[in-house]
Amino acid sequence: MPFVFVIRFLVLVWGLCQFVGVGAGTRGAKPGPGKPAPHVTPAAAPRDEQRAFAARFYQRRCASCHGDDFTGGEGRALHPEIPDFTSAAWQKSRSDAQLLVSILDGKGKGMPPQHHRLNRDQARALVAYVRRAGPPRPAAPAVLDDFERRFAELQQQLEELREQYRRLVEAAAKQEAKGANKPAPGP
Ligand code: HEC
Repeated sequence: MPFVFVIRFLVLVWGLCQFVGVGAGTRGAKPGPGKPAPHVTPAAAPRDEQRAFAARFYQRRCASCHGDDFTGGEGRALHPEIPDFTSAAWQKSRSDAQLLVSILDGKGKGMPPQHHRLNRDQARALVAYVRRAGPPRPAAPAVLDDFERRFAELQQQLEELREQYRRLVEAAAKQEAKGANKPAPGP
């Protein structure tokens, strides 16, 4: 039976390590050396769906001000402060987190909040969509994408560990049941 506790402890320590690892991931840290990323089938379909959603949503709710060409040309007469999403300088001047907040909560007088229409993932998809309007940014890998990929990896690892843990607990319980049938060995 103590064996089960050891396993439980290990799982806890593992979880803690992973948690700290996630924190490092958000700061753009690379996976540690000697620790190859586990094989994960890329979640291609959901990502494509998110992209398609963003494109549709942009057309319906954003293009009237920000333009089909993302330059804001159409809305600038009415809102002089509207940004040009195709400008490298503008893209550089904002973090993904800032864009996420602006899209959800709105900004200034002209940019209407969208939090009642978007969940977090959808808002993130829109951030990615706005980013894609700018020139490619090879120097600055998209932290959000990185984070999401790592998060998916960790979730899968956690699932696998849970499964292993469940099997171990079952095996231990069987052992114990067997042991209970035998007379206890004397001291
Ligand atoms: C009614 C016009 C209007 C609509 C519709 C609109 N925006 Fe904006 N948007 C603005 C204006 C004006 C600004 C500049 C706000 C400021 O800096 O004061 C802005 C700014 C932004 C910014 C930059 C925020 C920042 O932190 O600098 C992003 C990103 C953005 N909009 C995305 C979107 C998306 C995505 C949609 C559709 C869901 C959308 N906007 C719909 C007018 C609009």
